[in-house]
Amino acid sequence: MSEQNKFAKLEYDGKVYTLPVIIGTENEAAIDISKLRDMTGLITLDPGYKNTGSTQSAITFLDGETGILRYRGYDIEELAEHASFMEVACLLLFGDLPTQSQLTRFEKDVAEHSLLHEDMRKFFDALPSTTHPMGVIAAMTSALTSFYPRSLDPYRPPHEVYRTMVRSMAKLPTIAAWAYKASKGHPFNYPDNTVDYCSRFLKMMFAMPTSPYEIDPVLVGALNKLLILHADHEQNCSTSTVRIVGSSLASLYSAIAAAINALGGPLHGGANQEVLVMLRKIKESGVSTKTFIDKVKSGDKSARLMGFGHRVYKNFDPRAKIIKKACDDVLNKLGINDPLLGIAKELEEAALNDDYFVSRKLYPNVDFYSGIIYQAMNIPEEMFTVMFALGRLPGWIAQWKEMLDMKQAIGRPRQVYIGATQRAFVPMDKRVDTK
Ligand code: ACO
Repeated sequence: MSEQNKFAKLEYDGKVYTLPVIIGTENEAAIDISKLRDMTGLITLDPGYKNTGSTQSAITFLDGETGILRYRGYDIEELAEHASFMEVACLLLFGDLPTQSQLTRFEKDVAEHSLLHEDMRKFFDALPSTTHPMGVIAAMTSALTSFYPRSLDPYRPPHEVYRTMVRSMAKLPTIAAWAYKASKGHPFNYPDNTVDYCSRFLKMMFAMPTSPYEIDPVLVGALNKLLILHADHEQNCSTSTVRIVGSSLASLYSAIAAAINALGGPLHGGANQEVLVMLRKIKESGVSTKTFIDKVKSGDKSARLMGFGHRVYKNFDPRAKIIKKACDDVLNKLGINDPLLGIAKELEEAALNDDYFVSRKLYPNVDFYSGIIYQAMNIPEEMFTVMFALGRLPGWIAQWKEMLDMKQAIGRPRQVYIGATQRAFVPMDKRVDTK
């Protein structure tokens, strides 16, 4: 970051104000308006933060115009091809790719904390069986603060911070697998710390007392890749939630629980489940992809092309390219011929050649093909967004840590008030129903 003596001038009410321009390491330029209100009495208005930088950050760079995504400077394509999810987690959390001994130490620390406190088992029984697994994992993550109250310490000695970060990484897969088991009424599996992070999760998901789980390297490889692709995405809705909740010095667990709730919405991480629902509806109703695309174009909100469009990618989402290829590879290796993949490809082809989508710069996003891989892995639809949360976790933690290290002020946007101006209190007997 540098200011490089660049300035923007703002003319308002006959006066000219000079505002510094901040240039990022990838030459992104931002007008620094942090003193604007003191200087001019003005605030800026940007609903949905479409054009507002909420922070400086050294974690993830993305260029939505050219489809670039990098974690700590490394291209997502290279990381997805060569790294494990644990390596990428280290990269995000600590800033550099780990050496073998650093990675081994981190994996060991995470494995050591993978158990849940036995009292937490009761919570799974207490929630109604209708609870969406995202609701379960949010509630359980929130509860971690009660089991580890030191995470509330605002002065956080570094070893406590590290332990809280490690506990979060360690326990969320156990929570997620148990949420699934609870939804099925199956017995819970304890984590097997002799295997790697992804295998451990798959074993907890699928092992049964009646049939042990055989670790399949194809599935483990696919899971590593999917988690890496979701691991961070700069200041998206759930990550901004982590930073804003964390800025009040709430515990990391509280901030992650809030982020899980934000991620669950269908316009964010919930889209991966919605894509499968959409593909299945198309298949079951027998409508052609053309008819469906026409319905989407008619503006019918019930027929939005889920898994398409992105707030920042206006050319292509690099993650979608990698996932599409991974989807083909995994289905081939597993010998699965999923008709939903055919429908997805037809929809993509039709949309990419249709002016409605082209003119609005709508391309497949990370969620368009991920559900098809998860389905091939036997992961049920309602767990798709949970899988996204597992992937995004190191990103959330890294962003929380960065926010604290920067001593960022508490997040507190302003507003432009458009309600009633001052009026006198009306006693009950004088009130009139005007609606
Ligand atoms: N299908 C049909 N039309 C769409 C779609 C879509 N998936 N996405 C955007 N549009 C249209 C809008 O209707 C709008 O058209 P208009 O200008 O005629 O009104 C135009 O494209 C711009 O869309 P916005 O909603 O203004 O774009 P925004 O940046 O606010 O929203 C979003 C981005 C929420 C991702 C949107 O594209 C969407 O709803 N996509 C489907 C849901 C989805 O896949 N979400 C996952 C995103 S990736 C992630 O969170 C991991």
